[in-house]
Amino acid sequence: MHKNGLQVAIDGPASAGKSTVAKLVAKQFNYIYCDTGAMYRAVTLKTIRSGISLDNEKEISAIVRNSKITFAPDENGQKVFIDGDEITQDIRSENVTNSVSAVAAIADVRKQLSAQQQEIAKDGGIVMDGRDIGTAVLPRAEVKIFLIASVEERAKRRYKENIQKGINTPLEELQLEIEARDYKDSHRKISPLTKADDATEIDTTALSIEKVVSEIAKVINLKLNLN
Ligand code: DC
Repeated sequence: MHKNGLQVAIDGPASAGKSTVAKLVAKQFNYIYCDTGAMYRAVTLKTIRSGISLDNEKEISAIVRNSKITFAPDENGQKVFIDGDEITQDIRSENVTNSVSAVAAIADVRKQLSAQQQEIAKDGGIVMDGRDIGTAVLPRAEVKIFLIASVEERAKRRYKENIQKGINTPLEELQLEIEARDYKDSHRKISPLTKADDATEIDTTALSIEKVVSEIAKVINLKLNLN
């Protein structure tokens, strides 16, 4: 056990429900929540805003080196900032969503962001979600969860979220986008999306959010009782 509690790693493909359940699990155990996808999104947003091409690895690495990404907790989970500017909503735009895999495939970007994530998690008492947390960022996390869901279900969830935000992308298009992102995230050379051997896999396709949270809480309580 770390100083402030366990390290809980939650990985899985796009729209499998990671951030929704990770926030609730963090709240239940009074742990910090850290959305590592938001960090890749923040770098992607700044890249786009700076007019830098998505294949300019050197300039994008420099953006990470020269920027400060910070989080502040709020009732919906957390606010995200880059260089002090709030970007919580901006990083969820379709443009960022469809560009982020290219940025996340750059070795030096991953190296720098992973080091920042390890620093954030070092004392434990944290729920961190992403793609490579259990495999690469926190390989010694006490709890590792791998969430999956069918691509149809994930597209439906994105569709509902989008409608609430006033975005009306057809379901079929969202499904194709999710499949494309899955492919890129799972086939990149460095830290591709894979389940850690010691992770507990939960298929959320037919499960309520509450049920997924309670399944994860069971795994955490088991670990806590062993310590
Ligand atoms: O979870 P998300 O959709 O917000 O993540 C955005 C992108 O960032 C996703 O396409 C893959 C990438 N990512 C990553 O490569 N490693 C992480 N630990 C988290 C996200």
